[in-house]
Amino acid sequence: MNYAVILLVKYNKICITLSIILLPMLPSTINHIMFRRLLLSWYKLHQRCLPWRITKDPYKIWLSEVILQQTRVVQGLPYYKRFIAQYPSVIALASSTEQEILRLWQGLGYYSRARNLHCCAQTIVEQYNGIFPTNYRALLMLKGIGPYTAAAIAAVAFKEVVAAVDGNVYRVLARIFGLTYDIGTSQGRKQMHQFATLLVDHTQPDIYSQAIMDFGALQCTPVSPFCTTCVFKNYCIAFYTDRQKVLPVKTNRLHKKARYFDYFILQYKDVIYMKKRVKSDIWKGMYDFYLLENKQRLVVDQMDDPLFYLVKKNHLSIITFEKEERHLLTHQKLFVKFHKIEITPAFLQEAKYLFNQFSLVPFNHAEIETLPKPILIQNFLKKLNGS
Ligand code: ADE
Repeated sequence: MNYAVILLVKYNKICITLSIILLPMLPSTINHIMFRRLLLSWYKLHQRCLPWRITKDPYKIWLSEVILQQTRVVQGLPYYKRFIAQYPSVIALASSTEQEILRLWQGLGYYSRARNLHCCAQTIVEQYNGIFPTNYRALLMLKGIGPYTAAAIAAVAFKEVVAAVDGNVYRVLARIFGLTYDIGTSQGRKQMHQFATLLVDHTQPDIYSQAIMDFGALQCTPVSPFCTTCVFKNYCIAFYTDRQKVLPVKTNRLHKKARYFDYFILQYKDVIYMKKRVKSDIWKGMYDFYLLENKQRLVVDQMDDPLFYLVKKNHLSIITFEKEERHLLTHQKLFVKFHKIEITPAFLQEAKYLFNQFSLVPFNHAEIETLPKPILIQNFLKKLNGS
């Protein structure tokens, strides 16, 4: 809260009284012109020099935006550089394989984004002659390009006056203007979007959209924003009312569904049997181990499964790793146990039809390295190999 110190000087012929009264200082109102001016002047001083900002190539801007929807700039930057090094153009990306792209995306999560990246690149090559559509409406038609990404590309690459509204923008606007629209609802997001659209700078929408994102990422941070050094501190409703923690309003926080996974690492000498996930579930297109999923935690002996039956019949020993791994996804919470089984030729012979049925394929160490894997699996393999 800001306070003004007012000196009240009472004067008469006999005495002079000096009083100091502390009054809460009202924030000044801010209009869209002032907002843009302050934001852009802040950006001039504080902008980050990032590779996708020194180009107008829509391919590079698109790629950066898709990566940055997944992670923050510091973590996203090495991914961006690796993608550009390997696929310098949309044509190069389109002619790659989904598996290669998933491998490069490994660690970012939300793997459908990587699959959509590939699919979208192919559409641009096949239907648009390798040239990106140049406006918001047309960009929105492409697979994996939603309102945020379309607006970001249109504004940054083509200077279209559209608002790219992401979590940073919700936070900045809700706080400065004291907006209480609930961004947990589509109605609230729509209202926020309408508000954001009114603010976009018409002469430099490209710089404006980068500026508001950087302002959200660097100054108006989710936790502990830097309010005392903020250019908006005399105008910010959240600062004035001490509501930085409650703005933006977001109800209906997702309830994450719990899933219990037991992974079996079937190993024979230096090969491990792995399988590609093909169903439309998490991690589609990525590789993992033989998996039993249950509605609750089960001890291994309670598991009712044909392959597991053969393991017991062949008296193979099962080494269960003590630690239960917890893995959070956007909508799910995974509780994961790993079990290692050294298999034998006799078992392999007997279980051959099941290995075929479950599409379990042997891979050696070097081959496994090249496969796209969920980070949970990658980390486990690292531990298993002692690296
Ligand atoms: N977050 C999302 N898009 C961004 C961008 N272009 N620059 C910085 N942070 C971002």
